[in-house]
Amino acid sequence: MEKYKNYTIKNINEEVTLYGWVAKVRNLGGLIFIDLRNRVGIMQVVVRPENEYYQLASELRNEYVIKVFGKIVERESKNPHLATGEIEVDVQKLELINTSKEIPFIISDDTTALEDTRLKYRYLDLRREVLKNNFVLRNAITFATRKFLNNLDFLEVETPILCKSTPEGARDYLVPSRVNKGKFYALPQSPQLFKQLLMVSGFERYYQIAKCFRDEDLRADRQPEFTQIDVEMSFVNEDDVMDIGERLVASIFKEVKGIDIKLPLRRMTYDEAMEKYGSDKPDLRFDMTIKDITECLKKTNFTIFQNVLANDGIINAIVVKNAASNYSRKDLDKLTDYVKTYKASGLAYIKYQEEVTGSIVKVLSEQELDDIRTKLEVEMNDLVLIISGERKIVKTSLGALRCKLGKELGLIDKDDYQLLWVVDFPSFEWSEEEGRFLACHHPFTAPKDSDVDKLLTDKAHCYSKAYDIVINGYEAGGGSIRIHDEKIQETMFKALELTNEDIEEKFGFFVEALKYGCPPHGGFALGLDRLTMLLAKTENIRDVIAFPKTASATDLMCASPSRVVKEQLDELGLTIDIND
Ligand code: AMO
Repeated sequence: MEKYKNYTIKNINEEVTLYGWVAKVRNLGGLIFIDLRNRVGIMQVVVRPENEYYQLASELRNEYVIKVFGKIVERESKNPHLATGEIEVDVQKLELINTSKEIPFIISDDTTALEDTRLKYRYLDLRREVLKNNFVLRNAITFATRKFLNNLDFLEVETPILCKSTPEGARDYLVPSRVNKGKFYALPQSPQLFKQLLMVSGFERYYQIAKCFRDEDLRADRQPEFTQIDVEMSFVNEDDVMDIGERLVASIFKEVKGIDIKLPLRRMTYDEAMEKYGSDKPDLRFDMTIKDITECLKKTNFTIFQNVLANDGIINAIVVKNAASNYSRKDLDKLTDYVKTYKASGLAYIKYQEEVTGSIVKVLSEQELDDIRTKLEVEMNDLVLIISGERKIVKTSLGALRCKLGKELGLIDKDDYQLLWVVDFPSFEWSEEEGRFLACHHPFTAPKDSDVDKLLTDKAHCYSKAYDIVINGYEAGGGSIRIHDEKIQETMFKALELTNEDIEEKFGFFVEALKYGCPPHGGFALGLDRLTMLLAKTENIRDVIAFPKTASATDLMCASPSRVVKEQLDELGLTIDIND
């Protein structure tokens, strides 16, 4: 029996056996029509009044499991919206295999059921065609990945799930040890150290479709457990790794969607991405880049701008083309509230219409308004949105505003895929919270050769051999060339203000391994879930994970996390003093 065959008009007169679920039953003028749903999709089956199974058919309810045997015939009234819309199965035999309780929500692609209800009954939610298709797609992606990498002699190697807790990065999920009371394993945030150790072992080309765990704040594109296509290679430089990475991504696009991605991918430095797009993951599907108008306002009398300039701040703008007449005061107030969530102090605007109007028009000179017009190449009816202040805040808030407007104004072609590498990341980023520099990627990322000497003296200007692959404004993956030199690794740890005890305690085993003939190596990891989201055209990562967690990291179906009995805690030597 060909279970997963897609029948069409070409199969007329064939006799088939189908198994599946009752998606819908209709009794029309004596004929009973059943929509049978299975892995392939929907097939209409018809039971005639003279059929010995007619009574059974009339008793069928939604989600009953049935088996039918019959002949494929051409439909009288065709349904162009259905793959099988030209045919139906004229039932000769019908068998009821199982019944079903009344379901908590109707199984349809455009369901209005609350997501919480769908997550609680996820196994029913997954019966929806749109969701099922995401898993067919996900499977096609992993299949294409394995095919591509195996053809290039990459070895798939599994690495441990019970690991050692290491600092930096996100918060670890901890697992208490029963045998070694008071001690903990950590679930891997990624197989980073293990894949590097496999390079020390001489495996040369490794990959793994690896589960990763990070206890961090969740967002629409983040889950506490997610999957990476994790790759590492020896005797390579950045170009070699990016070449494999982009060819892998292009082969996935081609295999699963038939989309041709032009290689080599465009590369943009981190600095340029921040300057023009206010993000290290620029969405290149639309323009509206960020422009610097600080020069136009150098001599301004407007005190707010004067203060910004006195504090080494910047004044930047985006131009919303032909939109001046579409934005009311109220709309602009809403945009102001939006940028404030990105710490911007406010949002000024100028509308270049017959008359030039806007929130700061009265406080700027004619000359300044004209200079801005020239600098930004403003045309009639353009709306100019301006943010001033500290550089990073100005850039990120305008970058976020740009993306919001791009979406709202329909500037994005939904079928477009814009891929690029963002390269030359800084080695360190300043953490206000911790009052020190943290690693921008991870502490094993190699600095640019030219910056090795600056690691301890000029952290703000050290750049690394790290790269991210960005697709449509999402960070789809990232990686770097690693430090293989023990001395540089030690300097890096020092730069990150890790004490010798810290290093010994946390990464001693790793630093030791670097002493045994470590080859130059590097790699990357693609977020499988994010890649699937992008190819499935969904903005919700839960749509591509079979059993996902909610935003508060709970599994509504299994009701986890959950309490455990006292005996379990005793065995682990743990006591809990939360009594809610
Ligand atoms: P990084 O931390 O950039 O790199 O992760 C690589 C990719 O994994 C995806 N990703 C996530 N997807 C869903 N939910 C999450 N919480 C989440 N966190 C990350 C992203 C990201 O680009 N070991 C390095 C890779 C390397 O250097 O080789 C690493 O883990 O798509």
